[in-house]
Amino acid sequence: MRHLLSVEDISTADTIGILDRALDWMPSVREPAKRKLPDLRGRTVINLFYEASTRTRTSFEIAGKLLSADVVNMSSSGSSVSKGEGLLDTAKTIDAMRADVVVVRHSASGAAAYVARKVRAAVVNAGDGLHEHPTQALLDAFTIRARCGRLDGLVVCIAGDVLHSRVARSNALLLRKFGAEVRFAAPRTLQPANSEVLGVTTFTRFEDALDGADVVMMLRVQQERLEGAFFPSIRDYSRAYCLTSARLKLAKPGAVVMHPGPMNRGVEIEPAVADGPASAVLDQVEAGVAVRMAVLAWAIG
Ligand code: NCD
Repeated sequence: MRHLLSVEDISTADTIGILDRALDWMPSVREPAKRKLPDLRGRTVINLFYEASTRTRTSFEIAGKLLSADVVNMSSSGSSVSKGEGLLDTAKTIDAMRADVVVVRHSASGAAAYVARKVRAAVVNAGDGLHEHPTQALLDAFTIRARCGRLDGLVVCIAGDVLHSRVARSNALLLRKFGAEVRFAAPRTLQPANSEVLGVTTFTRFEDALDGADVVMMLRVQQERLEGAFFPSIRDYSRAYCLTSARLKLAKPGAVVMHPGPMNRGVEIEPAVADGPASAVLDQVEAGVAVRMAVLAWAIG
């Protein structure tokens, strides 16, 4: 039994193992006739989601079901529960029900690690506040590998609200480990203070960061996490940081466009780009199911 709280919890060998296994399991995701695998039969996966989610929660549910696990979804949308007694009581309740894996999404950084200390089950972090979203980074690495054939030596530009993005953090950590060059493009107010620690180069002009990029990963402005004004207006933000067809031409020919979703069309990405031939957005969603299957199997051991 193993927890996945950060991309740093997985060794390089295990990361490759997870990506390879996800590739092996892709047929189960794609072809209805081959669907269910017996690997997690008799196991219980609980999805504990304290924050809104479409892709992540659904794909964990499908992943568990494709491996024959019993999957239970618990959500507390609209609840004001933050780290503390509410989460502790929930964790104890889940523990009493003998879950094998608990998948946790919460607005507090460290919430998944907190639950991991309170339950016997393996805990998988499905996004904790501004901290990390390790399975998103794994599915992004899977998608990049599928499109570009490798991670090593690639130039990956991650653009938008980097400051509030657990996706950017987890991706930077994972991609750097595999030898990619990572660039953050964001207004100065939306850049994290620790980009040097992450080994990332920061740019305030989006165009400069795009120059020669193999992959362009766009991020949503995390309105729900903004306290105060980080830019004059959404229009001003969009004028400087929206990925348009014209801007995409600055990246390498054949560059891959990614977005973890949900997309705010017309704000950080032009619809023609989101739906265009460079877009791997739906590949990411598909990869998410196979990668989460591999992560659940890895967590259970
Ligand atoms: C991301 C998240 O929740 O961190 N979404 C996702 O999991 N696909 C990004 C976002 O909400 O903008």
